[in-house]
Amino acid sequence: MHIINDKTRFAPTEVAPDTFLAQDHHGEGTGPVSVGLNTMVIRAAEPIVVDTGVMENRRQYLDDVFSLVDPEDIRWVFISHDDVDHTGNLNALMELAPNATAIVDWFMVERMGATLEVPPERWRWRWVQDGDTIDVGDRTLHVVRPPVYDSGTTRGLFDPTTGVYWASDAFASPMQTPVRYVAELDAAAWREGVHTFAQYISPWLSVVDEAKYQRTVDRIEALSPRAILGCHSAVVDGPHVAQVIEATRVAPWAEVAPQPDQTVLDAIHATLDRAA
Ligand SMILES: [Fe+2]
Ligand SMILES: [Fe+2]
Repeated sequence: MHIINDKTRFAPTEVAPDTFLAQDHHGEGTGPVSVGLNTMVIRAAEPIVVDTGVMENRRQYLDDVFSLVDPEDIRWVFISHDDVDHTGNLNALMELAPNATAIVDWFMVERMGATLEVPPERWRWRWVQDGDTIDVGDRTLHVVRPPVYDSGTTRGLFDPTTGVYWASDAFASPMQTPVRYVAELDAAAWREGVHTFAQYISPWLSVVDEAKYQRTVDRIEALSPRAILGCHSAVVDGPHVAQVIEATRVAPWAEVAPQPDQTVLDAIHATLDRAA
């Protein structure tokens, strides 16, 4: 870990052979909480980049991705859903990676509208949905929706050759300061963070049929993932995989702190007024 311009920065972590998590986050990462903004690169026979971060982190994002794979070699860019923290550098990456095909879907294209600048040629667009597979030359990736998500377009990605599952927004937790592995976090704070993140992004889960919800978690457990990666989490591996699955099972009904409301904004404004 080193500091550039007062920002915590990690070199990409090789989580499994030729499978990397490039970690970034909002702001300096100095708290009180930090939320990861990550991407995954699999150097498969046909290299694939999974999700594209936020626009304001573009320089580090592109540096990290291109430190792992040359732009001309990128064959696929998989977008897990259309939120700005997953599509922020899609257009820029596709511009710089002339041989890449963006893996999106019909609804994502509809929702992104003119913000998707990738031309719709056969070579540049592909639509995949939950349940589909993607052949990347030396392995077949499985498209599997996570149980927790904040866009109807969300699809995760499982690599059976490494056991790594990309969970998009699911199985995530904020951190006090950025760390590589959830093992470095306080266990209770991490568990509470998983509950909180799940409820904030999927508040409707508390009113769904619980047995049906559990089946969506079962589906991920049945993959027997060796590691779970996502946009907003440090690496979940080893015994933490089972722990995050268990935490996710109870997350919709767990007690979590409320989101900051108008009284918090008033306090922020008062502080700013005093500083002015
Ligand atoms: Fe999202
Ligand atoms: Fe996200």
